[in-house]
Formats: sequence, structure tokens, C-alpha cells
Amino acid sequence: MIKHLLSAADLERAAAISILDTAEQLDRALAGREVKKLPPLRGRTVVNLFYEDSTRTRTSFELAAKRLSADVVNFSAKGSSVSKGESLKDTALTLEAMDADAVVVRHSYSGAAHRLSEWVRGSVINAGDGTHEHPTQALLDAFTMRRRLRDGVGDLAGLHVAIVGDVLHSRVARSNVLLLATLGASVVLVAPPTLLPVGVESWPVDVSYDPDAALPGCDVVMMLRVQRERMGASFFPSAREYSRRYGLDQTRMSRLPDHAIVMHPGPMNRGMEIAAEVADDPKRSTIVEQVTNGVSVRMAVLYLMLGGAAGVDSGESE
Ligand code: NCD
Repeated sequence: MIKHLLSAADLERAAAISILDTAEQLDRALAGREVKKLPPLRGRTVVNLFYEDSTRTRTSFELAAKRLSADVVNFSAKGSSVSKGESLKDTALTLEAMDADAVVVRHSYSGAAHRLSEWVRGSVINAGDGTHEHPTQALLDAFTMRRRLRDGVGDLAGLHVAIVGDVLHSRVARSNVLLLATLGASVVLVAPPTLLPVGVESWPVDVSYDPDAALPGCDVVMMLRVQRERMGASFFPSAREYSRRYGLDQTRMSRLPDHAIVMHPGPMNRGMEIAAEVADDPKRSTIVEQVTNGVSVRMAVLYLMLGGAAGVDSGESE
């Protein structure tokens, strides 16, 4: 298994599938148990180092590590020496002194996880670096698609996935594009020209400016949050205009094939990129499932990267 998970491109097809399979096994091993804990990472230390706000991702990693019996240290930038101006490097040296086996890092700087991996001995897992990447989100999204549309086995060959909205600022989109290509799915990015990154022509995707043309042929529609906090200038005329042209409302959703699912990594701007009724649609929306699946997938990543010895099924349990 790889030492660090910095980019979805770090994962070859076999490695990606092994993470998804392990997540299924771990999920099954814990299903219906009163005590949701397995022993493989007992005595190992996982540090959560979050320089950017996060609800889902931080708690998901924390729960994942705890369910594997690791010791977890949560280190958030607010209230730590970081707010007194300590650099990433000094923080890394402090972590090094604590002998962390894995550091899960989120930072506003694209490339922060990579830098950190040069300074610490343990494994580094990128939990979102600026607008660059968020590989475990792509893994949990792939896991969700595979469960819903491929009975939880194999790859995603032949699947048509639309990723819609603020691609420019989205690390989720970048990691998904890479992983989906590895798993054989085809991707269309749907966005206004102002919200597509420079160089998108070289990505393994099709591009469309028109959701009404692109969506009816898709098995999966992944809506992205409009990331206003990363927008200096104005990227579209008004929120209303954006929502009308690119938002997923019930009318647009009704033109999807019957089996198609609707995804969103959260947090959502309800009424902006996604209508409330669509987000809460009991049949198509996988938004809550994605959060649940995130824990299993992060357990699998930690388990495999920290060398959780024997197979999941054969491990003793408590
Ligand atoms: C995303 C993130 O932080 O990159 N959310 C998440 O991890 N669940 C997407 C976003 O902020 O829009």
C-alpha cells in the first residue's frame, strides 16, 4: 500500500479497488454491532491537523480512527500556536516529536499536504489542500456510486458521471476526475466558462456549459458547492441567475434516467446549486449516505496505510 495519500492520482486501479473492498468488509464487520470498534490500530496515533473549518471530514476521520482503536489527537488551527503564527514546518516538527503514525491534514494552501509529507516520518493523508485535492472524498463518492449502481463490487467502467458547478475552486472535483478515470467512468464537467479551470482541455473529461443537454444521459449527477469564500471577483451575474442556469431543481432532476443518483459532498447551499426538495429526495439523493460511507472508506484508508496486519474478517474482535 502507498505511504501517503496526497492525490487521487497516487492510487492505481488495484489500490483504489482494494480500498473500496476493504471499506465494504469493515462496514460489514461493524454492522449491527452494539460496540462499533475493531482492534487493528490499537496503540497507533492519528493526528487530525485542521487549518480550515470542517465538520464532516474531521469528525469522519476521527470516528474512523477511533473505530479502529487508534489514539486520536485533534489539532485545530484556532486556539493552537498556529494562531500565534507558528509555521506549518514548526507544527510538523512538534508532531514529529509526538511520533504520530498518521497525520490527516486540511489546509488552505494547495500543496500543504505534500510539504508536510517531506517533514514527518508518519503517513500523511490529504483531507483537502486549497483548491487542489481531497482524495478521500473521491473515494467515498466512488464507494457510494459503486454501492448504488454496481452492487458494491468491481470498478465503475461505463458509468456516466456529471460534475456540475464551481469546478474552478473544487478540490472534490479534481480528485473525483482523477479517480473516476482510474476506475473507468466517463466524466462530463458542467459549468459556466468562468467556473472552469485553465487547462481543463487536458483533463480526461468532456466539458459542457449546458446542464439540460448533459444531464439526461448521466447515471450520476454530482453537484458542487459554490465556494464564495474562495471567490474574490464576481464569477456570475447573480445567485438567482446561477441557480436558474446551473442549479438542480425538480424539473431538471425529472429528466434524469430513472436509476440516476444525485450527490453533493456538502456543505450545501440549498436553493442555490441544489433545491431543497432535490437534496432531500428519498430515492435519488445520496447526500446522507455519502457521509455515512465516508467513515467506512476512511477506516479502510487508515487500516491499509497503517498496515492493519491481517485481513479484516480474520482479525480478532472485542
Ligand atoms: C468539500 C471540501 O471541503 O472540499 N466538503 C467536504 O469535504 N465534505 C467541499 C466544499 O467545501 O464545498
